Amino acid sequence: MFTATIFIFQGRVLTCSLFGVRHVLLAETFDPSSASVPSSASVSALDSGTVLKRLHALIGTDLAETNRIIVEQLNARVELIPTLGSHLINSGGKRLRPILTLVTARMFGYTGRGHALLAAVVEFIHTATLLHDDVVDKSDRRRGQSTANAIWGSKAPVLVGDFLFSRSFQMLVEYGDLKVLRILADACAVISEGEVMQLVVSNDLSTTEAQYLEVVSRKTATLFASAARLGAVLTGRSEQEESCLANYGEFLGRAFQVVDDALDYASSNEALGKSIGDDFQEGKITLPVIHAYQHGNAEERQFWSRSLEEKARIDGGLQRAIQLIHERGSLAYTMHLARSLAEQAKAQLHTLPVSPERDALALLADFSVSRSF
Ligand code: IPE
Ligand code: IPE
Ligand code: MG
Ligand code: MG
Repeated sequence: MFTATIFIFQGRVLTCSLFGVRHVLLAETFDPSSASVPSSASVSALDSGTVLKRLHALIGTDLAETNRIIVEQLNARVELIPTLGSHLINSGGKRLRPILTLVTARMFGYTGRGHALLAAVVEFIHTATLLHDDVVDKSDRRRGQSTANAIWGSKAPVLVGDFLFSRSFQMLVEYGDLKVLRILADACAVISEGEVMQLVVSNDLSTTEAQYLEVVSRKTATLFASAARLGAVLTGRSEQEESCLANYGEFLGRAFQVVDDALDYASSNEALGKSIGDDFQEGKITLPVIHAYQHGNAEERQFWSRSLEEKARIDGGLQRAIQLIHERGSLAYTMHLARSLAEQAKAQLHTLPVSPERDALALLADFSVSRSF
């Protein structure tokens, strides 16, 4: 159940309970010398809680149904599956991908119940990728609590992730629409390609911005695109409307991941609910690093190379990395790209019906760059 409880802490940290889940929200203006991520200019007056409240007002009942299906479908004959699965699922999450399916279906006047089921599938796929991703990234915190791998070790989350993928496809077969099945099966394959591609370029500072964006598109934007497209598919809309929504989701997902990569160097564990610096520790070559490396002097490049390519443990390495990313304007550069991607997402919406749902999709694009969690 959504509660719009918002607390202001030290004048800037907002805590809100979204769909029964605690989130910490930050809204502040950009100061390139600070370690914070800028708000999008277009939403500087609009806090993240307001964006999420508007979404709730549109699809709150649908999302409650999706959450009900998620809990129901977590059942399995082996106890560890619902135990581990609900550890992550009940710890919240923004539910952005299912929200995309629900909002786009509503935008086209969908009146059935299939959208809630498909939204649950989309969240299951997302959850499975998170379980696997946290093992691969050796992450110990997510959504403000210990990751499944920190509690159960790496084997159980890999296997439960497999279960969630399998259950997703059981649900899709039951739903019985081959086109929907194809969209989500393709998405899963592309996400895996993205994660493997990321592994291949890890610790390699010659990775280009184009290669980075290719990974981002595959590992993250694909599911956003598919989730948004489903609303048009469910309601039998034209190819053109379908691709507008898919393109919207693609740009939104790219913006979202680019911001995630900025937050990994610029947020705090408390605000993000994850351990910042995970990307640095794991040798992930994300945009802030690519930019700082390319614009660094010889000594700075040597620091990046020793830390990321040679995997040397340098005392205070993360702090130095954060400092260089600020000094070289790499955070500002990353956020500039994210804002431009969010604008491109919004531009896809122009030909779609003027509606509260369309406005909500535009707000979601702003949220993707103004968020701090
Ligand atoms: C986390 O996604 C994985 C990324 C693509 C960065 P979210 O930030 O949407 O995760 P939850 O579901 O809200 O925890
Ligand atoms: C996650 O990317 C993308 C997928 C789960 C496919 P990240 O590794 O950046 O996400 P976080 O930071 O762990 O949430
Ligand atoms: Mg990760
Ligand atoms: Mg990340």
